[in-house]
Amino acid sequence: MVADRVNRVAPSATLGITAKAKALKAQGKDVVSLGAGEPDFDTPEHIKKSLYDAVEEGFIYYTPSKGILELRRAIAEKFKKDNSLSYDPEKEVIVTPGAKQALYEAILAITNPGDEILIPSPFWVSYEPMVQLADGKPVFVPTYEDEGFRLTPEDVAKEITNKTRGIIINSPNNPTGAVFRMEDLREIAELCAAYDLIAISDEIYEKIIYDQEHVSIASLPGMRERTITINGFSKAYSMTGWRLGYAAAPEELITAMARVQEHSVSCPTSFVQRAGVAALEGPQDDLNAMVREFRKRRDVLVDGLNEIEGVTCVKPEGAFYAFANFSAYGKDSFKLAEELLEKAGVAVIPGAAFGSLGEGYLRMSYATSMDNIMEALERIKKALKGMHHG
Ligand SMILES: Cc1ncc(COP(=O)(O)O)c(C=O)c1O
Repeated sequence: MVADRVNRVAPSATLGITAKAKALKAQGKDVVSLGAGEPDFDTPEHIKKSLYDAVEEGFIYYTPSKGILELRRAIAEKFKKDNSLSYDPEKEVIVTPGAKQALYEAILAITNPGDEILIPSPFWVSYEPMVQLADGKPVFVPTYEDEGFRLTPEDVAKEITNKTRGIIINSPNNPTGAVFRMEDLREIAELCAAYDLIAISDEIYEKIIYDQEHVSIASLPGMRERTITINGFSKAYSMTGWRLGYAAAPEELITAMARVQEHSVSCPTSFVQRAGVAALEGPQDDLNAMVREFRKRRDVLVDGLNEIEGVTCVKPEGAFYAFANFSAYGKDSFKLAEELLEKAGVAVIPGAAFGSLGEGYLRMSYATSMDNIMEALERIKKALKGMHHG
């Protein structure tokens, strides 16, 4: 009954385990969750207020498909200020219901059947199915723990064929927390120009970064005309459920994405777009406070993990995930995650959910309280004591 295109796609493994943890909690089990893919902070007050005001004013109708011009202007300003990139808000910016929708539209806009799209691996769970739904072929470029999960130009070059159409860049990275290096991105940009590739740069964690400067690949020489930069409000402003994201790219690509959007979702939610303006133009204090808190939690979690026998974890430079190596315990990561959930009451995401290179790893989100992090560490330590490791 179901079309091949959809049958090719696996269900989201991250949603699977979080659902199981929630079900156990609902049964009254004491579960500490490090599974979250969203900040545990509330949306800042001034952003909420702008939404209430918009609804009160009756701003409840369809908007232009690419989003209200006021928000597209604020987004263009943001690109100028933060990323030294200049975009025409009328032609080169689109507002979408979540960064995820922008990513899907971007992939649909550039992929012909059989085209290969490079994806650095381990990778965020939705890239592979999105490429499959677009009838493209996902091709993975490995990144390794002992290199801090950086994406190297050498590994990218190895995977380029005459079918390669584009590359997905995700820095700061989910699940590894890596921030790709400027010198690597420069050489990857040269490869994109040499082989006529389009970069889709998912910068949703741009603002959640610790000791590094964020680099937009579109700002590197020759890249503005061949990059679709994706960003959104979910992580920086704690607005995951609001569904608001955006993309900037040359007019031809934005027009193509707009065609998909017009015929699928029509437009992003009207009053949520007003709140987006408030988020970008209003005070950034809540964001800064959240990042300070994430940094403290990261240090406690990562140091704690490295103290556990047989476990190693590189210090993530961005996002709010630790990607820790448990391969000494020799289990498949789905089994290990299940065991930790059932025996220790700790919910984590199996590394293999992020591609086969994630096998042996567990992703732990520190978008949860310091108390939860410390409790989880204790429980994991105790649970692992009873397990043999190599
Ligand atoms: C790497 C990455 N890109 C995109 C998204 C989706 O963001 P949004 O909520 O804006 O659709 C997520 C959310 O988890 C993510 O981790």
